Amino acid sequence: MLEKYEPYLPKSFKGYCEPFLGGGAMFIWAYKTSPNAKFILNDVNEPIMNIYRAIKNDNDKFCSVLDTLSGEYLPLDPPPKPLKKGATQEEKEALAKIKKETKEFEKQHKNGVENDWRRLYELNPTRRSFYFKTRIDYQYHFDKFNSTEEAATLYFLMKTGFNGIWQLKGRANEDKALGRFNTPCGLMNQTAKVYDKENVLEWHKALQNATLLTGDFKDTIRHIKEGFYVFMDPPYRGSFADYGTQSDDQFQDSVVKFAHQCRDKGALTLLSNREMDDGFFEERADGDTIVKFDVTYTAGRRKANVDENGNEIFTATKAEEILMIGKKT
Ligand SMILES: C[S@@+](CC[C@H](N)C(=O)[O-])C[C@H]1O[C@@H](n2cnc3c(N)ncnc32)[C@H](O)[C@@H]1O
Repeated sequence: MLEKYEPYLPKSFKGYCEPFLGGGAMFIWAYKTSPNAKFILNDVNEPIMNIYRAIKNDNDKFCSVLDTLSGEYLPLDPPPKPLKKGATQEEKEALAKIKKETKEFEKQHKNGVENDWRRLYELNPTRRSFYFKTRIDYQYHFDKFNSTEEAATLYFLMKTGFNGIWQLKGRANEDKALGRFNTPCGLMNQTAKVYDKENVLEWHKALQNATLLTGDFKDTIRHIKEGFYVFMDPPYRGSFADYGTQSDDQFQDSVVKFAHQCRDKGALTLLSNREMDDGFFEERADGDTIVKFDVTYTAGRRKANVDENGNEIFTATKAEEILMIGKKT
């Protein structure tokens, strides 16, 4: 990603703002480029921002919780590997049998509508039962956690859950877990480690100079000053889903307007999005430069194939990405 953006990136800046932080793909680059800049990092997703807060303010505890969870999880058996391409009928039947038996065993231990994962873990400690037991703790028993423990538990679930998917618990009745992380487990085929401690330490150092905000992107405008670099990677057009309050295009339109407000305050702005070949961004460019790239997306909950080592290969989808660049500082 950075290679493609390189020609449009500033060599230095006084401040850096990422209003849609998510996984923060650009922040470490920004920190390395101008370590003494003022950093404003924001996302509307509070649990994600709390992970960054824990890494910034309480990194030793954050890592020790992760080490404890990983230490219990790694020695356990992973689920059977998914079928390889060209698997025989026998292999298919054997895997289907194991899956059926597992489901039946789990069904015998229910706690209301949910499987009783604590009991299942006692009876059969596997990575699968550990994942779901930990998810139950995170969803229902979070009163026992302080904020760092809660953030580290979520981070563990994100590292072992299904392919980076962010799925939330939604249920019509009053449920304590409503709106909490609810992604199913992933392949759970880690060998030596669950997370990259060096990388977390790098983030810990980089975040020391950062202001962490949880809110709507528009609220970051008051922090933007001349000489800032503002990198915007909002939910892509076509994937935004807050239809109760505004349509996708109304939302995207408000992001473009925000980019122009930042630009008019003297910031360099870079807005990335998905191009849908309907002139949406050209119509709104207001003098900004527009460049387009071919990209392939691999994330998403698509049915995965598996290579000869049992690793998932996701069917890549070709798409076009657009960058809208405001003036240089
Ligand atoms: C495409 S992701 C960002 C990807 C990020 N650049 C990365 O490297 O992972 C979009 C992010 O925007 C956040 N978001 C959605 N609506 C928002 C809003 N109104 N204000 C701030 N953040 C928002 C989502 O929580 C999500 O983390």
